[in-house]
Amino acid sequence: MVRSGFLLVFVVEAIVLCNAQTFTIPCSGCTCFDRDGNHVIDCSGRRLTTVPDGVRNQGNVYEINLSGNLLTHMRYADFTGTTADHINLSDNNITTIDDGTFDANPTLLSLDLHQNNLYNLPEALTHLVKINSLDVRNNPTDFRANPIQLTDHVMKEMGDTIQTFQFGHRDLDRWPNTIDHFQDLQDLTLDGSSDNLKVIPAQAFHSFQSTLLKLTIKNTKLVAVPLGVSTLRRIDEFHFDNNLDVGNEGVVAQAFFRTHGTLRTLSLINDNLTRFPRALAYIPTLRNLDMSHNRLEFISDESIANMHITNLTMHYCNLDRIPGALFHLQSLTALDMSHNNMITVENNDIENIPNVDNLTLAYNPIKFISNTAFGNHKHLGSVDISFTNLTTIPEAFNTTTVGKISMEGSQVDCMCRYVWVRSVVNHFDGCCINIEESIEDYIQYYVPLCPEYIELNGPQPTADYSLLQHFKNPEPHCQDH
Ligand SMILES: *[C@@H]1O[C@H](CO)[C@@H](O)[C@H](O)[C@H]1NC(C)=O
Ligand SMILES: *[C@@H]1O[C@H](CO)[C@@H](O)[C@H](O)[C@H]1NC(C)=O
Ligand SMILES: *[C@@H]1O[C@H](CO)[C@@H](O)[C@H](O)[C@H]1NC(C)=O
Ligand SMILES: *[C@@H]1O[C@H](CO)[C@@H](O)[C@H](O)[C@H]1NC(C)=O
Ligand SMILES: *[C@@H]1O[C@H](CO)[C@@H](O)[C@H](O)[C@H]1NC(C)=O
Ligand SMILES: *[C@@H]1O[C@H](CO)[C@@H](O)[C@H](O)[C@H]1NC(C)=O
Ligand SMILES: *[C@@H]1O[C@H](CO)[C@@H](O)[C@H](O)[C@H]1NC(C)=O
Ligand SMILES: *[C@@H]1O[C@H](CO)[C@@H](O)[C@H](O)[C@H]1NC(C)=O
Repeated sequence: MVRSGFLLVFVVEAIVLCNAQTFTIPCSGCTCFDRDGNHVIDCSGRRLTTVPDGVRNQGNVYEINLSGNLLTHMRYADFTGTTADHINLSDNNITTIDDGTFDANPTLLSLDLHQNNLYNLPEALTHLVKINSLDVRNNPTDFRANPIQLTDHVMKEMGDTIQTFQFGHRDLDRWPNTIDHFQDLQDLTLDGSSDNLKVIPAQAFHSFQSTLLKLTIKNTKLVAVPLGVSTLRRIDEFHFDNNLDVGNEGVVAQAFFRTHGTLRTLSLINDNLTRFPRALAYIPTLRNLDMSHNRLEFISDESIANMHITNLTMHYCNLDRIPGALFHLQSLTALDMSHNNMITVENNDIENIPNVDNLTLAYNPIKFISNTAFGNHKHLGSVDISFTNLTTIPEAFNTTTVGKISMEGSQVDCMCRYVWVRSVVNHFDGCCINIEESIEDYIQYYVPLCPEYIELNGPQPTADYSLLQHFKNPEPHCQDH
């Protein structure tokens, strides 16, 4: 009895304690909800000019999202009674953040300030003792203003804890030296720079050359891959995208010389390349390469030999054929060439890349796949030929086995001649255009009733029954056009 009395007191106390910290759903002015057991306060996109009451006195929350409002001034009492791990203030018109704004929140981990009107790093940041991730891209948004000052002592104060940092501005004209204070930086993004920043100094990454794992440089006017990349001893991922002034000459071998130990993922999307850069041969660790949105005219054998790429993506590269040089990529397991100009897939094109398991040729105007395109390729797990101009299931598959073929958005007439498909393909995505059935159901339920099938395999006593059962099954009609 005594014990359960104690227990009762304990339970009552626990409830009272919880009440003091209760997360209020609904909350005034915002949407408050739990996501995977985390309290989230979403006040995004509401034309707010001040922080609503619902944000205050909410105890410990995971995230406060105030993105996409009309806030101009963050004030001392804005977060009273609420602590958060993540605060998103992006896409407002914030010019001032009072010194005490985050006083209730000293353990904030990430702060998104991108797309605001800040001219300097706010002093308030120096009170955030655990700040791990900061985004100040595109500040100030005011036209004709200089990019945000990355003030030395504020950068220094954050230097011990910052691991993820994003910056950049259309008028950024020199590399900010104060970034040297970030000695534990792991993930850096430069998004946007001006015509005046043509190269990044070779020493730019010096302070975090032993810690940086991921580097993103995009939407700049740089003319070359920064040589400093070669000094990054642990770099695993490098994204260098939408840098239109780069071109073939800008992908210089010196930038990659010493990254040989670690770099596994590289994207060179929309860098005005017309050739496959030979410099990549200096990165034997490279596994994932994305070259999308470059008008590649030619992929030479020399440029590609001796590489161990497993995943190659080339969307929108203006290619009218699967490049023969890919033959050299004997480790290639995933090839994605969606959105190119291929009209045919020729003899041996796929047989040449015998370890490819995942092949994507969607959104090409393919009319014809040669019967010998695949040879007796035995590793095809998934082939995506959706949204092409094919009107039949290519017989080329007859010599292979394939886990799954996607032919969505193609004009496939389902016919008895697809008897062979049953033994070759396990799964199909896509619809017949002549009857309201999926290709997969057509192959499974209709084909066994075809004379061609019976001739080959003998009569199918249960086939009628299966088709009947299929009709009774009120599945939605197949439609993807
Ligand atoms: C914050 O809200 C914006 C706009 O609704 C949304 O795009 C964004 O994903 C949200 N951020 C997070 C971290 O949920
Ligand atoms: C903040 O919200 C914006 C949408 O406005 C979103 O793009 C961004 O990813 C969010 N930031 C974080 C850190 O989740
Ligand atoms: C942002 O605030 C400034 C003044 O601080 C004002 O001049 C400007 O019009 C505001 N911009 C928007 C889009 O509200
Ligand atoms: C792309 O490179 C070509 C030279 O190869 C150059 O003439 C052209 O101006 C560049 N395009 C852009 C958008 O910079
Ligand atoms: C390569 O792509 C496949 C999907 O095709 C993906 O599952 C795999 O994670 C990728 N490999 C790496 C190393 O990212
Ligand atoms: C194949 O690659 C595509 C993208 O290239 C990806 O979306 C898909 O998930 C991959 N499929 C498998 C089975 O890994
Ligand atoms: C492929 O089909 C689209 C319409 O579905 C058509 O506009 C295009 O001209 C066709 N391409 C070829 C090469 O036949
Ligand atoms: C498929 O291959 C088999 C031999 O494996 C052959 O007998 C049959 O005629 C082929 N069918 C088609 C449609 O090419």
